Amino acid sequence: MARRKKIYEGKAKILYEGPEPGTYVQYFKDDATAFNAQKKATIEGKGVLNNRLSEFFMTGLTNIGIPNHFIRRLNMREQLIRQVEIIPLEVIVRNFAAGTMAKRLGMEEGTPLPRPIVEFSYKNDALGDPLVPEEYILAFGWASQQDMDDIVSIALRVNDFLAGVMHGVGIKLIDFKIEIGRIWDGDFMRLIVADEISPDSCRLWDMKTNRKLDKDVFRRDLGDLAEAYTEVARRLGVMQSAPVNIGKPKLIN
Ligand code: TYD
Repeated sequence: MARRKKIYEGKAKILYEGPEPGTYVQYFKDDATAFNAQKKATIEGKGVLNNRLSEFFMTGLTNIGIPNHFIRRLNMREQLIRQVEIIPLEVIVRNFAAGTMAKRLGMEEGTPLPRPIVEFSYKNDALGDPLVPEEYILAFGWASQQDMDDIVSIALRVNDFLAGVMHGVGIKLIDFKIEIGRIWDGDFMRLIVADEISPDSCRLWDMKTNRKLDKDVFRRDLGDLAEAYTEVARRLGVMQSAPVNIGKPKLIN
């Protein structure tokens, strides 16, 4: 018999029915995919790291008043989250050119942008998450003008928070992606940050060396992904770099 009802299985996470109405359990897998799942691998420990890192970032957002889906971590790979109605957009914030933006505009990766740029991709794997202008989002009714104003404001606040936290540990926040969900309180609707915030959905470069500490390590075969994520976790103080040596039991005289 199944342990509990599976609601949805994605590339890196599984959602299960939660213990109370309006909740889900989000399970972080070790699977990594890139280039719209054409490249796949299992990276031992990635799920544990992302569960812990997403908890860290979401808790930080809660502490500065940015609502999000995180309720509490349940164990090494699972967290309890609020059930939301996901808006089908990848909300991307960029501080430096990289990835598709650098390619599209012929810019060198790492070029600072004059100001943070917020852009949107339509969440659709079959289409490869195409970039969409706000005009499409409004016309197709994926979000209203008020929603878009709120989404941009949330995205920029998350950017300020993440960029600051990363700067404090010697990491440049190049860009990142968040997803936004709707929650209903009777007729009243609110937008909150959902999905995950982890090195799977950010670009993080070491401030001094420009070493990549994010999923590009996997996308571009630059080394050991789990090691890069562990470095981020270690700098943020959210994970021990080595198992704690508690030693042998000692007799107390
Ligand atoms: P972008 O450069 O547009 O795409 P790619 O990652 O394919 O080069 O991505 C900008 C940032 O947003 C980057 O940190 C990865 C993240 N992102 C996701 O995590 N998932 C997505 O579906 C998309 C489109 C971007």
